[in-house]
Amino acid sequence: MIQRCQITAAKGSAPVTILVAGATSAKAPKPIQEEAARLAKGEVSGVRSLLHDGHTWLLAAVKSQDWLVGGEDWRVLGGQLIQALRDSGHSAAVVEISADAAQVAALAEGMVLGDYRFDSCRSGKAAKRAKLTVRFPGHSKAVAQAVAQADAQNLARELCDMPGNLMNPRTFVARARKELAGLGLSISLIEGVAALAKARFPGLVQVGRAGSAPPALLTIRYTPKKGGKAAKVTKNAKKGPQLALVGKGITFDSGGISLKPGAGMWEMKGDMGGAAAVLGAMKLIAQQAPKVPVIGYCALAENMPDSLAQRPGDIYQARNGTYIHVDNTDAEGRLVLSDVLTYACEQGATHMADAATLTGACLVALGTNIAGLMANDEAWAQTVRASGQEVGEELWPLPLYGEYRKLIDHPHADINNTGGKFAGTITAGLFLKEFVSESVKWAHLDIAGPAMMGGPWRYFTKGNTGFAVRSFARLAHKLA
Ligand code: BES
Ligand code: MN
Ligand code: ZN
Repeated sequence: MIQRCQITAAKGSAPVTILVAGATSAKAPKPIQEEAARLAKGEVSGVRSLLHDGHTWLLAAVKSQDWLVGGEDWRVLGGQLIQALRDSGHSAAVVEISADAAQVAALAEGMVLGDYRFDSCRSGKAAKRAKLTVRFPGHSKAVAQAVAQADAQNLARELCDMPGNLMNPRTFVARARKELAGLGLSISLIEGVAALAKARFPGLVQVGRAGSAPPALLTIRYTPKKGGKAAKVTKNAKKGPQLALVGKGITFDSGGISLKPGAGMWEMKGDMGGAAAVLGAMKLIAQQAPKVPVIGYCALAENMPDSLAQRPGDIYQARNGTYIHVDNTDAEGRLVLSDVLTYACEQGATHMADAATLTGACLVALGTNIAGLMANDEAWAQTVRASGQEVGEELWPLPLYGEYRKLIDHPHADINNTGGKFAGTITAGLFLKEFVSESVKWAHLDIAGPAMMGGPWRYFTKGNTGFAVRSFARLAHKLA
């Protein structure tokens, strides 16, 4: 989408110079150097704005915290600096920084993420923000990487922030096609109740059949280019890994016949954070070109009540043969995901990760800032967790504790779609596990907390965050 603040590596002058205390090689006037020294010593904090000979200097120091991992301290700083720059009223700045590429990239990312506003539904003056150019001379590689990454994440945020009347399975697919055009990905679509029933995705049919737009399964395939050493080595060796990324894409979750209470229901326009993260990550992966095939699956539906809607008490047979009892139509995420997980295994995935705004219980367990991580393989869980930590997203392990499986027993079917009052995140994870082939290494991310923010957080404003885009792209890189 439109890059509000344009970040470039080009040289050039600007009315504002941004310095990070302790990480600059620029020759600054004496008073500026003194202020930088005070910042570095911790005598002052925050973003300092100084005017010297008609030139504005924005100074700040990185503030490390033990919970800010994977460059988050630099992203937070980027968010503060871009805000200060906006407040200054200037339209261009140059960042004089000497730090390692990962730190520079995180700083630039924080700026692009921190400058995001959802304003495509605003008219008049509010819809227009001034163009802002920030130059990072000498850092072209870090800047290119940062901008691609932050743009992909902002894309995911925008899709989730879009209201349900504008963002439904159909408009999601249209936007995905537009965003992915020309990147060499192959896209396929199964759309509508009849086609999905025929292709055996009964969960999407059950959940999406009362939606204002038909449910859909969007598949996005990335195949690494042949040639080069890597391809030759694997040619005669055993077949390499294939990564599947699966996302819950409920464009609006009213709860269905098990209707949610009215207060705060609007937030469920963002119940597609998993699918949006898959889309953003696939866009990023196409640009980063890791040497591993990746298939992204977006399970798209609108969960609404009407006379066609599924009922509590319905029993249907999933793709893998399991009979599912629908105790509560508001536990719809696991229904749309289950057949898609099975399908991804059929399609040859060796490694898999899904992301879903799946349970309110995950917010109770881990709060708003941490995602739940459940997996059927310990080593894979660690790889996935490390991917998150390397990019500043916390994915915290929860157990798929076998003894709790009986919480989702049902006397009339093989499995129930709710598990009662306790361990709601784990019982949802245990439910999903039954649709994954045991030979596939699988991890489930419950992103109900960090995907949606009720207020400002780090470099985010109130709204959706695009959580898991970076972790997913990193995961592909790690598996390659
Ligand atoms: N999309 C919700 C979960 C959710 C809640 C995400 C709050 C983000 C913020 C999900 O579909 C849902 O409604 N889950 C139910 C499950 C229950 C009926 C077993 C829940 O968490 O209450
Ligand atoms: Mn629900
Ligand atoms: Zn939901």
